[in-house]
Amino acid sequence: MSAGLILGLETSCDETSAALLDADNRIVGHVIHSQDVHEVYGGVVPELAARAHLQKVDAVVDATLRQADAALPDVDAIAVTAGPGLIGALLVGLTWAKGVAYALDVPLVAVHHMEAHLFAAALEDPSAHPPFVALLVSGGHTLLLWVPEWGTYHLLGRTRDDAAGEAFDKVAKLLGLPYPGGPAIQRTAAEGDPGRHRLPRPMLRRDQRPGEPDYFDVSFSGLKTAVVTLVESLERDGRLDEERAHVAASFQEAVVDVLASKTMRAVELTGCRRVLVGGGVSANARLREELAARLGAEGELLRATPRLSLDNGAMVARAGRFRLERGEASALDASADPNLPFPGLIEGLPTGRR
Ligand code: KG4
Ligand code: ZN
Repeated sequence: MSAGLILGLETSCDETSAALLDADNRIVGHVIHSQDVHEVYGGVVPELAARAHLQKVDAVVDATLRQADAALPDVDAIAVTAGPGLIGALLVGLTWAKGVAYALDVPLVAVHHMEAHLFAAALEDPSAHPPFVALLVSGGHTLLLWVPEWGTYHLLGRTRDDAAGEAFDKVAKLLGLPYPGGPAIQRTAAEGDPGRHRLPRPMLRRDQRPGEPDYFDVSFSGLKTAVVTLVESLERDGRLDEERAHVAASFQEAVVDVLASKTMRAVELTGCRRVLVGGGVSANARLREELAARLGAEGELLRATPRLSLDNGAMVARAGRFRLERGEASALDASADPNLPFPGLIEGLPTGRR
């Protein structure tokens, strides 16, 4: 089944976003509204997120349609994030999409948020298609995948505790930086020396071998604890203000080193030097720079511009198109699931690739 104009809706966390893609997957309308109610709390408050989505969803869709000079009856299909994410927030988008799909009598397609992140780069770069090794790094997830084709996702590694973005957000809070932490750390780190404080690289050792459970997995809670200890001692000495940028830079360097090293292990093992990086943390300039450097001239780094790396409706519409074309429209009783399983996820590499 193929649809002309597809509307994508994203409300899984703190962005209310809608996009319209034309039949050639060109973005003809796109609005991203980032909620600011959470700033004073230093993190997303789920109940407030759901309410803010409810207040904004109609206006965001209207503005998107206006950009495309279109009206709701022109829409041929609706794609919406059904999980993973905050249940109340997800339900706002899903319920809106169901009601409108029913009223317009068009197909509804429930999309997995992390699969949508995989499709973001393809919206801007026609070559951003599998095969590739994918590093998905967001506020809630950290996944290392081997993707031989769309819809087939071999899981190589994941985080054992905090997601990469979560680590950025928690460390930003420790350093007295605003939410979201990732961009704030990147800005602050630009003024600092990444070699000033030697921080641990959890789960990264030279003696690890393929097949061992921690070869690809990552862990960030030990790194966060190391930053807590460091910040406490700097505070005791009254030196936190002068050291803040150095701590931010040293922390960013540790995360980037771990992520880039694990990704390069996947490159070595699969023999594929094409790497796609996606999710909010992929907006990080230092991570992009390091991955590109380690891949070298014969490698290829696929990524979206920062706007499309963060949560947005366009990637949801694009992933929805893929699922629709495979005949995978959803029924109107589809439900939101905070722990929605990644569709097509297979543990480990296929035989012949290790
Ligand atoms: O994908 P995303 O927009 O939402 C989720 O699906 O979670 O990712 C948000 C995460 C936040 O943790 C935020 O701090 C992080 O991405 N992030 C960054 C940067 N921009 C956003 N982390 C590091 N560097 C950045 N420039
Ligand atoms: Zn996301």
